[in-house]
Amino acid sequence: MSGFQHKEFKKQPDTQHQLAPQIFPAYGGRHYQAPALKMTHADGVLTTDLVYASMRQTSLDENRTETVIFLKDSIYPVHVEVHFIAYRKENIISQFTEIYHNEKKDIQVEQIASSFVPLHAQAYYLTHFYGTWAHEMQQEEEMLTHGVKTIETRRGIQTTKAEHPSFILSINAPAQENSGDVYAGTLAWSGNYELSFEVDETGRLNIISGMHPFAATRTLSARDKLRTPEMLLAYSPNGKGEITRNFHNWGRKYGMMHADKLRPIVLNSWEGAYFNFTEQTITDMIDTAADFGVELFVLDDGWFGSKYPRNADNAGLGDWHVNTDKLPRGVGYLADYAASKGLQFGIWIEPEMVNPNSELAKKYPEWIVKSGQRDILPMRNQWVLDLTNPQVQDFIVETFDRILAMSPHINYVKWDANRSIDNVGSDYLPADKQSHFWHDYVTGLYHVYERIRAKHPDVQIQLCSAGGGRLDYGALKYHNEVWTSDNTNALDRIFIQHGANTFFPAMATGAHVSTSPNHQTGMMLPLKFRFDVAMSGRLGLELQPKDIKGDEIGFAKAAISCYKQIRPIIQWGDLYRLLSPYGPNGWASHMYVSQDKQQAVLFAYSLKYHGRTEYFETKLAGLDSTKQYKVTEINKQHEWSVFDGNEEVFSGDYLMNVGLMLHIGSAFESAVFLLEEQ
Ligand code: GLA
Repeated sequence: MSGFQHKEFKKQPDTQHQLAPQIFPAYGGRHYQAPALKMTHADGVLTTDLVYASMRQTSLDENRTETVIFLKDSIYPVHVEVHFIAYRKENIISQFTEIYHNEKKDIQVEQIASSFVPLHAQAYYLTHFYGTWAHEMQQEEEMLTHGVKTIETRRGIQTTKAEHPSFILSINAPAQENSGDVYAGTLAWSGNYELSFEVDETGRLNIISGMHPFAATRTLSARDKLRTPEMLLAYSPNGKGEITRNFHNWGRKYGMMHADKLRPIVLNSWEGAYFNFTEQTITDMIDTAADFGVELFVLDDGWFGSKYPRNADNAGLGDWHVNTDKLPRGVGYLADYAASKGLQFGIWIEPEMVNPNSELAKKYPEWIVKSGQRDILPMRNQWVLDLTNPQVQDFIVETFDRILAMSPHINYVKWDANRSIDNVGSDYLPADKQSHFWHDYVTGLYHVYERIRAKHPDVQIQLCSAGGGRLDYGALKYHNEVWTSDNTNALDRIFIQHGANTFFPAMATGAHVSTSPNHQTGMMLPLKFRFDVAMSGRLGLELQPKDIKGDEIGFAKAAISCYKQIRPIIQWGDLYRLLSPYGPNGWASHMYVSQDKQQAVLFAYSLKYHGRTEYFETKLAGLDSTKQYKVTEINKQHEWSVFDGNEEVFSGDYLMNVGLMLHIGSAFESAVFLLEEQ
């Protein structure tokens, strides 16, 4: 064959591989890669050929422009709208899709993505976040090779378990903080999802993001329109640090409630009392919390159930009435008591779930998610309520109303959801629409959130799902914050918060100081280290405050008061990551810089023993190089400082190009600095 080239071997331009890729490829034609749309037409035809029809651009307000590309099948009356909302200031694009049709009979939509992003480069490095209970948002980075890499969940509720629906994609080299072409996305959806990254044989990468097509075919009649969740996308030519700051700015403005208000310092009762409390236990906790300077007390699980009292996780869930054996004067008394001590009051609920041992489960068996006659498998001794059913939605809205009606002083609700969905199915949905469950559960939940928010716009709501199991902008937009993880061990928290804060701002991530030895890990860590880690998020306590004893009382009070001073910088400032906890040398460090660059807070952590001659060193970032900053160590445990230049003034230029050396190096030593423009 040498020297002979058959004419078929000549390079032919392939129309499907022209430089301009399709904006929303459907299954059909010569598109061999995974499609963004797969549907079956009313006549059984499996393929779709979307062609451009028109486009519309609308200025929604001075910051947002919506561009809609209208596509239509070349033969069938099927319409797809690809929507992009560009957020100018935050540099974020939200993308979603709508499909509707005018075929004579129903169509079957087997898959419809929120976004399709085609890229072409020499190499792609994917950063993603895996996790499980008490181990959320663990970062991994890998070079993509040919084939498909998928990030997904099929668990329905705990969407961050296994993987988080987000990615960072760095072009040609691993992602850097402050340089390099980086794309990123996070899906605003609290249900099953799939993000797929396909590197084809020509080296092109297609990123398809959206609801998971698994067991979720949707029958769409000519009256219906199906709208996908939003995929929030970002690009930066300056590395992943800028991507994070863009998402934080977007999140504070569009992705969460009340970001204009600083978050209060919380004492949550869970790890301090679990189910074992009396009225006295709680009022004592409130007394000590008030003395410490805490601003909000949250009564966690265990306050409800009468016929089936909630004294453990195996009874009472669903029966949202006060257990008067435990709390004879009710929750109202406790909320009033907290108010009399100057504290706000919050309460825990888990309204989507039910214990088999409950009045609710016995009264409404048809409300429980189940797969026909199969066993309903309990998880943490509980079942899931079927949120596709409007009666269940009403029940949850009424439950929320009743709980707030217990006292005008309840202004915070911790909304938990402690299991995933398995053996899926609904007594409410008809037999031919069972596969609508995954989608309709989530839209049912959002419908409930909307009704609650319409009635109770000011109440603070924490998003919790066995810790950080439900961490997405789809749900967060109705909430004030998330309970980042049930793992309160400060060392693990550095990694979990590093992951969560990649997309979600510090003010959205609850971070609590707990007792030592830690209840999840058994690890013993210094109180200062525990505070220094929790203070880089939304600070709270998760312990019996009376367990803080001796010298530690003074330290804890001072730390709480210190946090109040630096809180606006942390909660509203820009995050600059300096040393990654995943780095090779056992350090972690980041800083928050106020938007006007007049103030900053630096956190530095030693994650292992470094020996006597190895010190923490880092250049700072995000400052104004022309400004002069006084650098002051705060939240100190000793009279002396770990910084030789403490309380001296340095230029931003010096701090960012020379940096600081700190005398920390023992295992779990840490330091916090305030930088103030002079
Ligand atoms: C979940 C939450 C915890 C606590 C318990 C109560 O695990 O994540 O913070 O509220 O439930 O049962």
